[in-house]
Amino acid sequence: MDRTIQLFPDVAAIAQHAAGIFVDAARQAVRDRGIFRVAMAGGSTPKALHAVLLSDSFRSQLPFDKMQFFFGDERHVPPDHADSNYRMVNETFFSKTPVKPDQIFRIKAELQDAEKAALDYEQVLKTKFTLKLGELPRFDLMLLGMGNEGHTLSLFPGTTALRDNGRLVVRTWVGKLYTERITCTAPIANNSAAILFMIAGADKAPALKAVLEGPYEPDQLPTQYIKPSNGKLIFLVDSAAGGMLSKNLATT
Ligand code: 6PG
Repeated sequence: MDRTIQLFPDVAAIAQHAAGIFVDAARQAVRDRGIFRVAMAGGSTPKALHAVLLSDSFRSQLPFDKMQFFFGDERHVPPDHADSNYRMVNETFFSKTPVKPDQIFRIKAELQDAEKAALDYEQVLKTKFTLKLGELPRFDLMLLGMGNEGHTLSLFPGTTALRDNGRLVVRTWVGKLYTERITCTAPIANNSAAILFMIAGADKAPALKAVLEGPYEPDQLPTQYIKPSNGKLIFLVDSAAGGMLSKNLATT
């Protein structure tokens, strides 16, 4: 597996580096296939990346008209809700770009039945990636974060979303948050051309050490399920989250 782990002093430095990776991936995909398809992440860490992408030097390099935006997961709320991942990305990125609504494919988490929302998004992916039976979408880039107990996407420890049942997108009951989520499954993530984790904060240090240096126990630490089969895996980590890692594991 092509894995890189890099340590940075803070989120701002992670975002600067991530923006370079984002732009390079976009330009490369457009050169190769005329389109760049990226899965955006929720949570709070991506906001810093969005701000850097909007700055003059990066913005001018992005092929906005040839980009399609997807989501790795969504909270079970309408798109205008404070917890919505779509709302966060829209406010901090889409709304400040020339990207048109028909380039954005969000998860319809306003549907009361989360299973319907999952099946609907699965269909969106099948159509947009013109998938044949059994095929998986291949994102040019998937942005990911990690929770302090090792979850990524909405793949939480001990939940049914971790079972590989051939689905691309599933609804998942997250008991500890008393809520449903809708999430892409690990096989989709693992079919990406590149996966970029941005991980910041001291609360994540033990889980990150366990994910990268502990035994393979992915049902406890779902981030361990993320291992692209034919793609790059990049961890950009701040010094707080990376504080427990062994010296030789990461480059600075
Ligand atoms: C979500 C995410 C989730 C997130 C991590 C990290 O919907 O919350 O998709 O997997 O990436 O929890 O979140 P932070 O960036 O806020 O630490």
